[in-house]
Amino acid sequence: MKKQRSQKINLDEIIRCLSIVAQTLHENPKQALKDLRNIGGEIDRKIPYRDGHSIRVTDYCLNIADDLGFSEKEKVVLEVAALLHDFGKIGIDENILLKPEALTSDERNEITMHVMRGYYMLAGFNELIEALEGIKTHHEYYDGSGYPEGLAKGDIPLIGRIIAVADAFDAMTSERPYRKALTKQAAIEELKRASGSQFDPAIVKIFLKLLAQKDKRNRK
Ligand SMILES: [Fe+2]
Ligand SMILES: [Fe+2]
Repeated sequence: MKKQRSQKINLDEIIRCLSIVAQTLHENPKQALKDLRNIGGEIDRKIPYRDGHSIRVTDYCLNIADDLGFSEKEKVVLEVAALLHDFGKIGIDENILLKPEALTSDERNEITMHVMRGYYMLAGFNELIEALEGIKTHHEYYDGSGYPEGLAKGDIPLIGRIIAVADAFDAMTSERPYRKALTKQAAIEELKRASGSQFDPAIVKIFLKLLAQKDKRNRK
């Protein structure tokens, strides 16, 4: 497996761009989201094994939101949260991200901290406050065994439950330092297996329906 090294991230520059995006989010969401996609894509490219991850996760999330009948305003909040869901991974030691062997408990803690790190890094942007809930809860499990707070079922904000499914599917179908990408079918089986424990079963059901519809369209 080829190792992917990251490039240096200019955090000051990213924060400067984010503050401009945050300020324009309400008056011109279309442009702000376009700029945010560029920032999300740029961050992904600089973190090993992540190229395109946030964008793909966001697109999956928006498809689910359409099926759920989200309003335009709700979709903006979800889109911001999905684009920035792993913002806290900036600055994680690259040796941990690239480690092919099992992680130690300290290293695992370092990874899990990305949730609260991202939350606090972005907490100063009042305009992103609703999206922060999604960032904070995208690793909560439906049965209450996730992190950071061990929230369960409906206590997990809906946008967090949506991102969780989209995120897991994209992560499973992408290569990682410690494993090759799963096939789409294997990832679907894993979503089904963890439906009701890790994931909200209603969201899994919608996501699998959307994947099947996409497959059908592609076969035509
Ligand atoms: Fe994450
Ligand atoms: Fe992610």
